[in-house]
Amino acid sequence: MIPMVDLKRQYREIAGEIDAALRAVIDGTRFILGPNVSAFEQECATYLGVPHAVACASGTDALMLALRAAGIGDGDEVITSPFTFIATAEAIRHVGAIPVFVDIDPQSFNLDPDLIEATVTRHTRAVLPVHLFGQPADMEHIAGLCERYGLQLIEDCAQSFGASLPDGRMTGSVGDFGAFSFFPSKNLGGYGDGGLVTARSEEHEGKLRALRNHGSFKQYHHDMIGYNSRLDEMQAAILRVKLGRIDDYNEHRRRVANTYGSLLEGTGIVTPRETGHGRHVYHQYTILTGKRRNRIQTALSNVEIASAIYYPVPLHRQKVFAEDWRDIPLPVAESVAQQCLSLPIFPELTDEEIERIAAVIRDAL
Ligand SMILES: Cc1ncc(COP(=O)(O)O)c(C=O)c1O
Repeated sequence: MIPMVDLKRQYREIAGEIDAALRAVIDGTRFILGPNVSAFEQECATYLGVPHAVACASGTDALMLALRAAGIGDGDEVITSPFTFIATAEAIRHVGAIPVFVDIDPQSFNLDPDLIEATVTRHTRAVLPVHLFGQPADMEHIAGLCERYGLQLIEDCAQSFGASLPDGRMTGSVGDFGAFSFFPSKNLGGYGDGGLVTARSEEHEGKLRALRNHGSFKQYHHDMIGYNSRLDEMQAAILRVKLGRIDDYNEHRRRVANTYGSLLEGTGIVTPRETGHGRHVYHQYTILTGKRRNRIQTALSNVEIASAIYYPVPLHRQKVFAEDWRDIPLPVAESVAQQCLSLPIFPELTDEEIERIAAVIRDAL
């Protein structure tokens, strides 16, 4: 059996440190907004090269907090990708704004910057690109457009912790805000839900801190309607252990991707292409199968190898949004959704396992 992600293997290697970190939290009994959360925020800010980082309860909340702190609300339009997890657009709707989907680039599966300009209206307030599957979006182009049109830039970095741009800046350090998820299977994953927002301005940081804690700048004084969205101290303690290893984990993901790439060459399958907008950290390894997706998936599943379709239905075709988008085709997102297939990838996946997976795919074709 080869799963999409095997968190047990990773835990076995770091169990001593994790167990000790959890024991220290329990002994200290500072369970909410304690020393590990503060230290983790500081360590993330340093790692990501940003002045401010505010931890919260999930990646979905991170997006919502960023949108709220940016002052985005009722009737505002936010340009984003239709080919992402629902949370990206859900957060936009949660603050009362409208997601405006722009088609994706067929090679990176990220927002196509050439299509953004035509969708800007007088209601547009922000662009929210997703660094999908760990590959940075074309931030130079997108940031330039935001500057030209006076739009805020919010990066969805849920899948891209540790990915960097060609100039060395990390994803999440370019926009006004970066939203990260620490869902267990993410490149930097906790043992439960967790998230973090980066901010460039002190004013935004203050708002984020207040919003995540019931809209309170001063205890029991509430200036706005906020949330209970704090990162748990135990998660922070776990994430600190793993943050120290993130570059190594990402390096191994790249090794897995390279091995897949050479083993699947010549099969006619389209393997992930690095588009030159930054260093891919392969949260997912997603191939395009043409019409052969079912055949490949069945062959893998017959020998207990997992695979997954991220994502089978683009957001503009989801029931919650479909009514407004009925007559608007986004052909690249639709075509990719019909042929994408994600293969197992995690830092501990061995070369022998990758060879087995590739051999099954080759046989199936
Ligand atoms: C692109 C993207 N955005 C947002 C999220 C939401 O993160 P979370 O599950 O931590 O709420 C996820 C992952 O789940 C994601 O993949």
